[in-house]
Amino acid sequence: MRIMVTGASGYLGWHLTRCAVASDHEVLGCYFANPTVVPGATMALLDFTDPQAGIEAVKDFKPHAIVHAGAMTNTTDCEINPESATRTNVEGTQHLLAAASMLSPLPHFVFISTDLVFDGERGMYREQDATGPLMHYGFTKIEAERAVRNYAGVWTVVRSSLIYGPAGETTRHSFLDWMLAGIRRGGVTLYTDEFRSPVHVDDLCEMLMAILIRKAWGIYHLSGAERTSRYEFGLLAAEAFGLSQDHIVGKPSPSGIISATPRPKDVSLCVERAIRDLDYHPMSAEEGLRRVARGSK
Ligand SMILES: NC(=O)c1ccc[n+]([C@@H]2O[C@H](COP(=O)([O-])OP(=O)(O)OC[C@H]3O[C@@H](n4cnc5c(N)ncnc54)[C@H](OP(=O)(O)O)[C@@H]3O)[C@@H](O)[C@H]2O)c1
Repeated sequence: MRIMVTGASGYLGWHLTRCAVASDHEVLGCYFANPTVVPGATMALLDFTDPQAGIEAVKDFKPHAIVHAGAMTNTTDCEINPESATRTNVEGTQHLLAAASMLSPLPHFVFISTDLVFDGERGMYREQDATGPLMHYGFTKIEAERAVRNYAGVWTVVRSSLIYGPAGETTRHSFLDWMLAGIRRGGVTLYTDEFRSPVHVDDLCEMLMAILIRKAWGIYHLSGAERTSRYEFGLLAAEAFGLSQDHIVGKPSPSGIISATPRPKDVSLCVERAIRDLDYHPMSAEEGLRRVARGSK
């Protein structure tokens, strides 16, 4: 299969490009500001906010599937610069959909979305639950999802949670690297009341490949199966890496303080649909972190 991956210089995109190459697919990996190499893949510069650039890339490569993993991902940057976030995350997606619509047959379009489309008041959200993002980043993802749902070909929206795993050969890092660096520096503060469902990047890539092979249609929540606080996850990470848990301070997230980015409390995701339809067997956080620690030795 010919697979085009946007954001191939990003954390997820880099791992997915590698995974698709390892499964003998022909892959076009697209980067923007950070030229990146993935052996076995054709790498190309693409600014998807430029409609013509998207059309040319798609026409040349004629992908059977496009995985749109590129985005403006820093939530604070999106809050501070909402026009730029909208241009990148919403208009960029619309341009790629328009480019894909020119091909015959229409390629499968897979859009990577986020748990932050929810307001975090309840947790363990299912695919059909009402969305209500608190931050501009989440709004842009909802708008982009809306555009994807109007695509005439097969489409899939994959909502994920915090993605962790080994470092890739890219300038982008996972939040685990930040957490471990803090612990190693001698101290990190992690919230005890912010709940997420962190997912190992290998699980996510395996499921994205399954979605491509099966042409699985619709919205899928693909995160870890567990609801865990940032603090609990930090303790597990320290244990897996043989670091002292004494350097982790757990505290409730600040309330009543006006922060640049509103933070939803509990955006854990329910992955039952993926377990049922895609035979998903997500690693536990403990297992996943041990795997990363083993690989780093
Ligand atoms: N990481 C997480 O924990 C997490 C959680 C839930 C959902 N997601 C979603 O998963 C996807 C991947 O996230 P990630 O953390 O792997 O991303 P990332 O590491 O922050 O990388 C973002 C990617 O987007 C590319 N990009 C940005 N603007 C672009 C533009 N105008 N044209 C072309 N490419 C552009 C970047 O290219 P350059 O670096 O070359 O500029 C980079 O490859 C995103 O859609 C994100 O919203 C991530």
